[in-house]
Amino acid sequence: MSSKRILLIIGGGIAAYKSLELIRELSRRGVASRCILTKAGAEFVTPLSVSALSGEKCFTDLFSLDDEAEMGHIQLSRSADLVVACPATADLLAKAAQGHANDLASTTLMATDKPVLMVPAMNVRMWEHAATKRNVETLRGDGVHVMNPDEGAMACGEFGSGRLPDVAVIADAIEHQLDMLSGPKPLDGQHALITAGPTREPLDPVRYLSNHSSGKQGYAIAGALAALGARVTLVSGPVSLSPPRGVDVVPVETAREMLQACEEALPADVFISVAAVADWRPSMAAAKKLKLKDEGKTLPSLALSENPDILSTLSKKEKGRPGLVIGFAAETHDVEQLARAKMKRKGCDWIVANDVSGDVMGGDVNEVALVTPDSVEHWPRMDKIAVARQLAERIAEALKGQGGEQVAAE
Ligand code: CTP
Repeated sequence: MSSKRILLIIGGGIAAYKSLELIRELSRRGVASRCILTKAGAEFVTPLSVSALSGEKCFTDLFSLDDEAEMGHIQLSRSADLVVACPATADLLAKAAQGHANDLASTTLMATDKPVLMVPAMNVRMWEHAATKRNVETLRGDGVHVMNPDEGAMACGEFGSGRLPDVAVIADAIEHQLDMLSGPKPLDGQHALITAGPTREPLDPVRYLSNHSSGKQGYAIAGALAALGARVTLVSGPVSLSPPRGVDVVPVETAREMLQACEEALPADVFISVAAVADWRPSMAAAKKLKLKDEGKTLPSLALSENPDILSTLSKKEKGRPGLVIGFAAETHDVEQLARAKMKRKGCDWIVANDVSGDVMGGDVNEVALVTPDSVEHWPRMDKIAVARQLAERIAEALKGQGGEQVAAE
């Protein structure tokens, strides 16, 4: 039980009624809510019901003399441990991403010095709109924790992503954020090294071999480990993601550059190899752009060389091996058996096997099994941020009691 307080901004969407359930659920968990209701939010729930459930005055207006006399908007923005926007509408996300401050909710989001969690809910087309995607990226880059909405039937009759997650799931995320704020963190003093994204293997100055990896899972793991207090080095292939807050990103292109950057980043207490490293590279990368008619050939053949295996190389180090080495394995069948064979071949301690038979690559959800030498856990299908958080917690448990990077460096 926590005795924390959140500042809850209730935006104007059909899901606003669930914010009332959220206030009750949080109160049951010992978390108090002070609420701001936007003008649009007040079309769906009333200040009276918000106030009755939260047991406090519900704030609505930036220019209210009464409200300002009671608690100025700057003071209000700092009066809780965490600011939560739920439901966060497309408009609220856009205002927050662009730094608008023309009503009480947006001004509070601008003025607060506290962490912010936003829980979007909107029509599927609005959620998938390029503008919303840009805004979410910007907010995440600014260090705002933006949850992914659920998929399913919507109040408007359409189907897809955009539904507010279950109230219990939102309350869990809020409690998790609140726990992160208090006291020492489980990974303080530990160094985590992560690879993410694809590699690009050049053929000539304008062409390369690569794959569809988005980097989302690796970036989420880096963010989750940093949130638990680890110093995080993220060696990343080319992706279009903003670096998570507090993470040191080393950008690379090729597998060989990725290996070199990892070697340079050692020592580390944990190494997580999430990158989709290209297994091969063109044996020769031409210095000049290859021409269709080079040497009179119309269809040149491509000679390939094997890339170094970064996971194997770091796993099998005799000196300076990270204390815990975790690989990923993309499988469509016989998950446990294939993961164990891979673990043995590559010498790593755990394998996170993801079922890639569906829409995992590039998508926001993942279904994984955590395979360790003496166990296998099948985790339910969940968004990549939730997978990252759960894995980070397991890593923290495994590293508990180990000395951290000072010891590793000796
Ligand atoms: N890996 C690596 N360096 C490589 C290739 C892979 O570090 N050159 C790492 C990946 O980051 C991942 C694991 O090894 O942690 C995946 O191994 P891989 O053998 O590529 O497995 P799959 O992608 O699952 O493919 P396959 O089962 O076909 O071998």
